[in-house]
Amino acid sequence: MFEALKQLPADPILQLMQAFREDTRPNKVDLGIGVYKDDAGNTPIMASVHEAERRLLEGETTKSYVGPAGAAGFNESMARLILGESSDLIRDGRVSVIQTPGGCGALRMAAEFFRLCQPDTKVWVSTPTWANHIPLLGGAGLDICEYPYLNRQTLTVDFQAMLDTLEGAEAGDVVLLHGCCHNPSGADLTFEQWRAVTELIQRKGLLPFVDMAYQGLGEGLEEDAAGLRYLASQVPEMVIAASCSKNFGLYRERTGALMLISATAAINQAATSQLLSVVRSHYSMPPAHGAAIVETILGDDVLRANWQGELNAMCERILGLRHAFADALAPAGDFGFIARQRGMFSFLGIPPEQVRQLREEHGIYMLESSRVNVAGLNARVLPQVASAIRGLI
Ligand code: LMR
Repeated sequence: MFEALKQLPADPILQLMQAFREDTRPNKVDLGIGVYKDDAGNTPIMASVHEAERRLLEGETTKSYVGPAGAAGFNESMARLILGESSDLIRDGRVSVIQTPGGCGALRMAAEFFRLCQPDTKVWVSTPTWANHIPLLGGAGLDICEYPYLNRQTLTVDFQAMLDTLEGAEAGDVVLLHGCCHNPSGADLTFEQWRAVTELIQRKGLLPFVDMAYQGLGEGLEEDAAGLRYLASQVPEMVIAASCSKNFGLYRERTGALMLISATAAINQAATSQLLSVVRSHYSMPPAHGAAIVETILGDDVLRANWQGELNAMCERILGLRHAFADALAPAGDFGFIARQRGMFSFLGIPPEQVRQLREEHGIYMLESSRVNVAGLNARVLPQVASAIRGLI
């Protein structure tokens, strides 16, 4: 049965991660896969996560099944984290959250759910978007359509082109938006642009689907959710996929959440029952550990404050690196957009040959598209990286 299968090319992000691991040069620099790194170049376990794990280990009494929706406490905490402590939507019973295996699990379960609601669902994704959005959504059988998002010359949002294309979407189509820290460009919508896209979504009867993978790493937990919350307050239905990989540093624990917002509490209950049957027929139930950590942190005032402090420090550090990087590249041109963008990623705007040259000659790893993970920089490597890039331009 297997002999007809052709060798597939490796996933570009994961392949780059592997190539970096295998590179034996001591001065190599990883600006590839999106993981946060500290000043020493490590991806540490947050102290609040360590403390939550210690408590869990001491207090855990069973490894029995959690159920397809995962832990209720985690789900409630995530709803409040994303929509805000005083959300009317939560109060009115219009929101349900299920725990998923990472943000990827949330995206895929959402896609399977859309197909269940409407077998020929079209989903509109930004060009560019995170490379894994396409297989996650398309693999569930959804029709993928693209809307232009980034002006390749200025590396800023081409909002008019985005709106013009979405005018062509039809009622019932799904529109995928990045909640904050657009991956791969770092170019986010302004609040005014969120208002305008909300108006379009309402007028055309589209279903908004927001990927919230970096809450807290752009400008702050509340600031990063402002556009999403406005949109949620205006539309009858919305779907949100969230990840705890980056803001809790739980990458390998595969911790995420999928939120359904419905027009009424009764519709929400029925929709959630369908979603849970989708989960049951895919992976049955999510893994427990990461979500238990998040629940422990968000449910304890002191731990939560500590976590928020750690997250704010990560966010500040990325913002500082963005400014320092743009300044260090300034002699080679205007890289001010890097300082204005948010989250882990920005494009350098250099061609693939130069990306390869940086990797082969200098041991500097970034995606072929020239996407860099700014969080991979630090005081030691930033001058080395900037000088290598300046040397090319
Ligand atoms: C990235 O974009 O690098 C991250 O989201 C990690 C991944 O799984 O691709």
